[in-house]
Amino acid sequence: MRILGIETSCDDTAAAVVENGRHLISSLRSSSAAIQQKFGGVVPEVAAREHVLSILPTVRDALHAAGMDWQDVDGVAVTRGPGLIGALLVGVTFAKSVGSALNRPVVGVHHLEAHLYANALIAPIQFPALALIVSGGHTTLAYWTDHGQLAVLGETLDDAAGEAFDKGARILGLPYPGGPAIERLADQARPDRSITLPVARLGADSLNFSFSGVKTRLRQLAADVPDRAPELAFALQEAVAEALTRNIERAYEKYPVAHLYLAGGVSANRRVREKLGDWASRRQVTLHVPPVELCTDNGAMVAALGYYRLTKGERLGREEGPQTPWPLREAMAGARGEESGTCC
Ligand SMILES: Nc1ncnc2c1ncn2[C@@H]1O[C@H](COP(=O)(O)OP(=O)(O)OP(=O)(O)O)[C@@H](O)[C@H]1O
Ligand SMILES: [Mg+2]
Repeated sequence: MRILGIETSCDDTAAAVVENGRHLISSLRSSSAAIQQKFGGVVPEVAAREHVLSILPTVRDALHAAGMDWQDVDGVAVTRGPGLIGALLVGVTFAKSVGSALNRPVVGVHHLEAHLYANALIAPIQFPALALIVSGGHTTLAYWTDHGQLAVLGETLDDAAGEAFDKGARILGLPYPGGPAIERLADQARPDRSITLPVARLGADSLNFSFSGVKTRLRQLAADVPDRAPELAFALQEAVAEALTRNIERAYEKYPVAHLYLAGGVSANRRVREKLGDWASRRQVTLHVPPVELCTDNGAMVAALGYYRLTKGERLGREEGPQTPWPLREAMAGARGEESGTCC
């Protein structure tokens, strides 16, 4: 079963073809990041306009790269939310149009759950597991027991991990998106233990995250030692990696699983991978990370998750459109049948 996956929740217009939820056949992305750089972040209206221009060529190119015609598509999966409403609307409307024109089933998926399915393109997901989604807008830790069974254990109380990188980059005068720029600058840092950033201490039992204190301290240090930008970038990366590792350890104490899945743009970060990798080997846990090109938004993760949903009979209802905000907890309740859409 070859699923066309469509992703337009933020600034990337992405399309991919995945066979049976496992085999990546083609994946293409057209990003408006270069345009957004001028504004230092994503402007929703600009993102929506770029999606309108890019969606048809991107999907067409993904099919072409897969050696397929429209008729060869067996089903369509699209990110339904959460994200920018105008951006989501382009993808969802396009997916529904394709489904209707070809008479193929369409399913709308949750963007955060989809991020995790970048891992399904490497090997089948092994349950039970801990799942850590670290992206531009979310930092979510969950206990993952089966497809569609994610129990949220912790979330960020303020900035997301990716946001900490993006805002940190802005403070240090680096371009958007901040994560890759911070990582490159941190590589040039000289060892200096006196330059560190705080890791928020929430309650002893809390599995939540907080990154706003890191940002505030970084701003102060950037004013105090403006010539030490590489060391500040290094300290920021270290603080984020430490906060993630600390909560994974706490979650593991309650849920001693054999697998940890990482996903989202920040999972591309080498230091984050290294630190969680060290933790995992100490605990004899297998750490699963997506290939770097599938950490940020892509259509392949949407198609992979869509396969499981379509084969379960889930469909995006005729009256259903984008959904945002859409807490993961709510989406999981829907997946358990507590609140599902009507079939189209
Ligand atoms: N190498 C890296 N190191 C750290 N952060 C990174 C790296 N590469 C990308 N990022 C960060 O990942 C984020 C983008 O990831 P992603 O595409 O998953 O987020 P998003 O889709 O914008 O947000 P969400 O998934 O929460 O809606 C940005 O904040 C970016 O700075
Ligand atoms: Mg994302």
